[in-house]
Amino acid sequence: MPPQEPPARPELTIVTGTSDTVTELTGRRQEEIPERLPDAIVLLLSGPNLNLLGQRQPEIYGRDTLADHVAKATMAAAEHGLALEHVQSDYEGALIEAVHEARGRAAAIVVNPGALTHYSWSLHDALAAFDGVVVELHLSNPAAREPWRHTSVVAGVADGTIAGFGGLGYRLAVRAVAALLATRRAGPA
Ligand code: DQA
Repeated sequence: MPPQEPPARPELTIVTGTSDTVTELTGRRQEEIPERLPDAIVLLLSGPNLNLLGQRQPEIYGRDTLADHVAKATMAAAEHGLALEHVQSDYEGALIEAVHEARGRAAAIVVNPGALTHYSWSLHDALAAFDGVVVELHLSNPAAREPWRHTSVVAGVADGTIAGFGGLGYRLAVRAVAALLATRRAGPA
């Protein structure tokens, strides 16, 4: 028998926007950028089927592609002096590994777990072991959809959830991260 090929690694996409690219991306000078948090990394995690955005049920999820959303999130992050990395995978284990790799390295995770939201206790546990900011994000409003979508097993380990605002949610999530990081850095009142 010929030697077996190892299984292909799931597709991982990384997009970064560093503070060096702020002016290029936003047209604003560094000193005009509010709440600058130099060198802080935000990991944007996209779960199963989100790679199909733009084609998948556009009446629910809109016509923008995942790349469109990542570009907006990258720009919003740059406006706050944050560097955004993006990982999309259809594999629960790959998402969990991305959370592990973010430990001690990234300041925050914005996660749209797709349907894993509703049953992945492994993702819940991985996020519980991450000590930065966690924002759960959904394009649609799962609470207004089928009953099985009403439960989120990751909500309990997130600082907060943004849902139902379509693509605007990506910018809102990054703003929430910047505000929470600024509060945490300022320390107790
Ligand atoms: C979703 C909502 C989930 O219920 C669904 O399984 C998705 C997308 C959203 O962004 O609205 O895949 O997370």
